[in-house]
Amino acid sequence: MTFLQRLPTIRAKLGSVIVFAVGMTIALVYLILGVGFHVFAIEEHWWELLLAGALGAGIALLIARWVARGMTQPLRDMAQAARRMETGDYGARVRTTSVDEVGQLAQAFNRMSAELDQLERLRRDLVANVSHELKTPISALRAHLENLLDGVERPDPETLQVMLAQSDRLGRLVDQLLDLSRLESGDVPLQREQVALAPLVSEVLSEIEVARADRGVSLERRLAEDLPPVFADRERIHQVLFNLLDNAVRFTPDGGSVTVSAERHDGAVDVHVADTGSGIAPEHLPRLFERFYRVDPARSKKEGGTGIGLAIARSVVEAHGGRIWAESSPGQGSVFTFELPVALAAAPIRREP
Ligand SMILES: Nc1ncnc2c1ncn2[C@@H]1O[C@H](COP(=O)(O)OP(=O)(O)OP(=O)(O)O)[C@@H](O)[C@H]1O
Ligand SMILES: [Mg+2]
Repeated sequence: MTFLQRLPTIRAKLGSVIVFAVGMTIALVYLILGVGFHVFAIEEHWWELLLAGALGAGIALLIARWVARGMTQPLRDMAQAARRMETGDYGARVRTTSVDEVGQLAQAFNRMSAELDQLERLRRDLVANVSHELKTPISALRAHLENLLDGVERPDPETLQVMLAQSDRLGRLVDQLLDLSRLESGDVPLQREQVALAPLVSEVLSEIEVARADRGVSLERRLAEDLPPVFADRERIHQVLFNLLDNAVRFTPDGGSVTVSAERHDGAVDVHVADTGSGIAPEHLPRLFERFYRVDPARSKKEGGTGIGLAIARSVVEAHGGRIWAESSPGQGSVFTFELPVALAAAPIRREP
């Protein structure tokens, strides 16, 4: 790092460059005059004085220009990187070691381009994933339709049932994607009110019992007695609980159990959905809430899962200003927890129809 790069502000740098240039000019004039007077007796040659001054100023300006170039190089690099970004290349970064305003701007620019790079990668992954997920049921439907047309298959109830299931899957995927995109863009505002968790949990548990009646998994409820109401959108929290319970029952073998519990924690209520199922290896935990992420894609797909349920749950909880996370170890079951803010006394109360 050069002396100038160490200076923290542009003003200090410009000051040093000016002092340096003026000092250089004076020093040169003084040197030439001093040597000239004594050695060559140049008092009669006034133009030589002028020449000495001009030469000193010229050298000082050249040095100042060279030094200032180093100061503005990151700005030129940023302009060039911005032009590359215009064409969709987000990999450009600006190299800088200075700590002044230009250095800070370059660092902010690098952070912004890294963020854009990451967003662009996510966008490309999303398009690839969506196309892949849509393609599977469409190909299956097409294959059945071709078989029906060729007379290889008959339009019996079983075939039509399979086709109906594929079109249901397609519809569900499109609905989930639309829902997620609306949640992420904030297009659907939350209808927040005071929500009592106990009746909501009972409602979702009964729905899961009906939906997963074929499974031998017992459902339990352990809510703290003094649980305060939360300030939340009831329908959205219903959706989060349903997604978590649906996963818990799906990934728990027959004979296991799933427990919903909740307790107050400072100004929030923590809701836990715990299961005694297959568990999740630690390397998967940080990615579970990403769209389309599945620990075992083949297994989830076979069961109709598209890997969007937890992404929706995270968007809903974060829109409420809360957090959602998972703790688990393989073979030991999993616990999914989300927190919601406690409702203030003045919050609106839901009027049951
Ligand atoms: N309770 C759980 N036990 C073990 N693995 C789980 C559990 N919950 C989620 N997972 C893992 O996390 C993945 C993502 O879950 P997510 O709910 O987002 O998707 P999905 O259930 O596969 O599909 P969808 O919910 O969209 O129908 C699942 O595929 C599964 O691998
Ligand atoms: Mg799910």
